[in-house]
Amino acid sequence: MKNLVIENRVVLDKEILELISTSDIKEPFNSSAEYKFVAKYKDRLVGIISYMITELSDGITRIYPRFIHVILHPEFKRSKVAYAFLKETEKILLRDGHNQVMAYIKPEKAFMIELAEKFGYKQYAEDDEGKFLYKDLGG
Ligand SMILES: CC(C)(COP(=O)(O)OP(=O)(O)OC[C@H]1O[C@@H](n2cnc3c(N)ncnc32)[C@H](O)[C@@H]1OP(=O)(O)O)[C@@H](O)C(=O)NCCC(=O)NCCS
Repeated sequence: MKNLVIENRVVLDKEILELISTSDIKEPFNSSAEYKFVAKYKDRLVGIISYMITELSDGITRIYPRFIHVILHPEFKRSKVAYAFLKETEKILLRDGHNQVMAYIKPEKAFMIELAEKFGYKQYAEDDEGKFLYKDLGG
């Protein structure tokens, strides 16, 4: 999408830290994720989407980016720009050699499970604390 600029930020600036602190994410923000994508649209902050590299072992050990945070600026909730942002982050992960992403979501965030499913994630397992979902990125 034209005018959408995405950067993987090592250091988060004041504007994004303010968005994080004013969004009620109901869990600590994990700033150590390897991918912290921050998007701007026409110089306006769209939000942050982060993925953490996670090792999972089910007989074979694999490394996946795990979807951990999506925080949108209120101006961009339910927007095409936000959708394009999410799609672009997946293209970058695919270019980096990741064919799948996963997510682990606790039941108190049922709305996030619904959103993830709308976006193509599929549930494949659960434990006492939450559900595991994955999405094929192709490639
Ligand atoms: C979560 C988020 C990315 C979803 O954005 P969106 O899909 O573009 O649009 P909305 O904010 O309208 O949310 C979509 C749905 O999720 C629900 N939802 C969003 N945040 C919610 C919350 N904290 N608790 C319960 N439901 C929530 C909305 O009510 C809406 O439900 P509906 O379709 O039945 O009306 C956005 O709301 C956001 O950035 N929230 C603040 C940060 C956050 O809580 N992130 C998730 C955890 S890291």
